[in-house]
Amino acid sequence: MAVQRTYTMIKPDGVRNGHIGEIVNRFERAGLAIERMELGRVSMEQARANYAEHEGKPFYEGLIGYITSGPVVKMVVSGEGAVAKVRALMGATNPAEAAPGTIRGDFGLIMDENVIHGSDSPASAEREIGIFFA
Ligand code: RTP
Ligand code: MG
Repeated sequence: MAVQRTYTMIKPDGVRNGHIGEIVNRFERAGLAIERMELGRVSMEQARANYAEHEGKPFYEGLIGYITSGPVVKMVVSGEGAVAKVRALMGATNPAEAAPGTIRGDFGLIMDENVIHGSDSPASAEREIGIFFA
């Protein structure tokens, strides 16, 4: 497994509920390096570009509204197999199904507000880094 970069973002509920420090701590304990980190809002254009694959699905407009609703923490994280490692630390998309010990399992409550986003492949990671850290 090669050293990779991935894009990950603490969603508005994760920031609002005070989980920034714990999440960054979990990444560092897993041997990942924080390359870039910025607290701020997601623009409508960034939201639509990031979630383009979901356009037209029933949850799409709600997802865009939600991710633009408050401050997030945008990060570029690197390390051995960083894409899969971050996804493993995140846990399943639906917090109700996410295992205890994962970020969504420990801090998430509902599908629509599931604490964190992470790129799902190295290609997605490079695309998303370009959207948020152009
Ligand atoms: P993310 O992109 O945010 O890291 O989440 P993910 O890969 O685990 O899940 P994805 O399939 O990409 O979905 C993006 C976000 O849309 C919401 N969602 N709702 N109601 C539904 O069936 C449904 N499916 C997805 C979730 O908030 C998910 O994080
Ligand atoms: Mg996704």
